[in-house]
Amino acid sequence: MSQTDGRISMPEGYLKELKRSEERKAEILKYLQEYFPDQAKIIFEAGCGHGHWLTSYAMENLKQNCLGIDLIAGRVDKANKKKEKRNLDNLHFLKAELGEFLEVLPKEITFEAVVFLFPDPWPKARHHKKRMIQSSLLEKLASRMEKDGLFYFRTDDRSYFDWTVEHLNQSKFWKIREEADWLHEEVTYFQNLMEGYFSVVGEVQ
Ligand SMILES: C[S@@+](CC[C@H](N)C(=O)[O-])C[C@H]1O[C@@H](n2cnc3c(N)ncnc32)[C@H](O)[C@@H]1O
Repeated sequence: MSQTDGRISMPEGYLKELKRSEERKAEILKYLQEYFPDQAKIIFEAGCGHGHWLTSYAMENLKQNCLGIDLIAGRVDKANKKKEKRNLDNLHFLKAELGEFLEVLPKEITFEAVVFLFPDPWPKARHHKKRMIQSSLLEKLASRMEKDGLFYFRTDDRSYFDWTVEHLNQSKFWKIREEADWLHEEVTYFQNLMEGYFSVVGEVQ
């Protein structure tokens, strides 16, 4: 931020990024309004990668709306190819950043379940703020779900697992469901690369 003749001006790069973000959010909203024009309940996967898990889930649950988002266009393209090959009308993949997506998500669209599979662990302490799971995110997700809505999280990274359990335990919006079954088993691209993993299920309270 700089100041000239009493007026505050923002750096050009910042303003450009702000504009790009507004454009991305407008695209996300347009997509959501086109595919979910009315009230809709969805199974939502954040960071869906190549779409292995959600495609398999959607094939077995044809009456449920499924939506996966990912930051990387190439991964979303691969996911959409899976959807097209199987002709699945109940399945959607969208290139979107989670924070921007939640900012523009219409109130009529709510989540039945949210799923995080092998999200980037950001192992260094100074990078923990970049992890998708944060207290603010858990609050936002809960606000878009009914009581009993479920949160499924799986990672190969012990520290990220502990972090997520701690955040769920500390959140007044969630409780951990110790006995809950996993929603659906299908090996994802990243799961296939890992030797093991940890899973936790949360429920809106
Ligand atoms: C390690 S990969 C796991 C992909 C997939 N879930 C799997 O198990 O194969 C993490 C994915 O999250 C996506 N991602 C990271 N941060 C994101 C964000 N803020 N919003 C949307 N996607 C994000 C990345 O682009 C990447 O595809």
